[in-house]
Amino acid sequence: MIDVPEAFARTTVEREGESGAAWLAELPVTVDGLMERWECAPDGAVLHGGVGVIVPVRRRSGDAAVLKVSFPHPGNVHGPDAFAAWGGRGAVLLHARDDARFAMLLERAHTSTLADANTDADADDAAADLSDEVAAVAGRLSRRLAIPAPPGLPRLRHRAEGWEQELHRDAEELPHRLPAHVVDAAVATVREIGSMQPDVLVHGDLHPRNILRADREPWLAVDPKGYAGDPAYDVGAFLKARAVTFLEADDLEKAVRRTLDVFAEAAELDRERVQRWAQLHLVQASFWGRRQGFRIARNGAPADQLTEYAEHLAVLLTAPA
Ligand SMILES: Nc1ncnc2c1ncn2[C@@H]1O[C@H](COP(=O)(O)OP(=O)(O)O)[C@@H](O)[C@H]1O
Ligand SMILES: [Mg+2]
Repeated sequence: MIDVPEAFARTTVEREGESGAAWLAELPVTVDGLMERWECAPDGAVLHGGVGVIVPVRRRSGDAAVLKVSFPHPGNVHGPDAFAAWGGRGAVLLHARDDARFAMLLERAHTSTLADANTDADADDAAADLSDEVAAVAGRLSRRLAIPAPPGLPRLRHRAEGWEQELHRDAEELPHRLPAHVVDAAVATVREIGSMQPDVLVHGDLHPRNILRADREPWLAVDPKGYAGDPAYDVGAFLKARAVTFLEADDLEKAVRRTLDVFAEAAELDRERVQRWAQLHLVQASFWGRRQGFRIARNGAPADQLTEYAEHLAVLLTAPA
């Protein structure tokens, strides 16, 4: 039986309460049953992300794989559909799925992620080159993942109305430092771009920790939400995660705009549309920060300066590309 990582157990109970504790109590038995059914043997220490355990296993064929079991949450329903549609293109292969248990048997990639390629944006040319390379990797991957969406995935355009209402409500209710024209620009993006999106498969959480080093392709995505919408949506999660590495940059605006330039070019997406999505995500993140508080580490202390930083970035990105 697997040992559930202690930190994972703690955060799951803190977040989900009793239903989390009940799910955790069953988890080792669930994993054992799946391993037996999918003819796998344990092959290394159990890893975890925010919502799931990742059990390295060996298949009968000898192939290295991982078994992922996520907490049963509506946000985790469509990941397997996305993996199935990609069929290994830009993402790890899906070998088997058990939707009732929120479980998947996935091709194993390496443990290092695109987030490990960290840079000091205020350092020298080499750091800037590395930062470009990170954005180019994510952009190229976004391009590879942009295939027609399978039926049945949540359509992002159906969210537009809710996003707009939320923006108006948050701007009114929350104390914040966003000038009105910045919120207005985000609302305009929702109306003009958010409400008319194509049916392209969107990863939905393409930040650097969900991009893993691999052999079959240099990098492979994991942990998709699986939406149908505008592929430029995915710049949001990427930029929010990257921006934290620019906190100390000498010229923040230049670093952020450069990231968008490189991402858009590698993804073969319209530069202005990429920036408008990024701006919208940053406005939403600013409000989220005001409501919940950002935490640098899971369950760490809230970092107020990150909310102000998100607001600052949202303002910077409101000016045209
Ligand atoms: N297919 C895989 N091969 C190797 N490692 C993986 C694989 N999938 C996930 N991992 C590891 O587990 C971590 C968490 O996985 P992820 O699917 O992102 O879970 P969560 O939904 O909890 O964020 C990843 O950052 C990575 O280190
Ligand atoms: Mg993840």
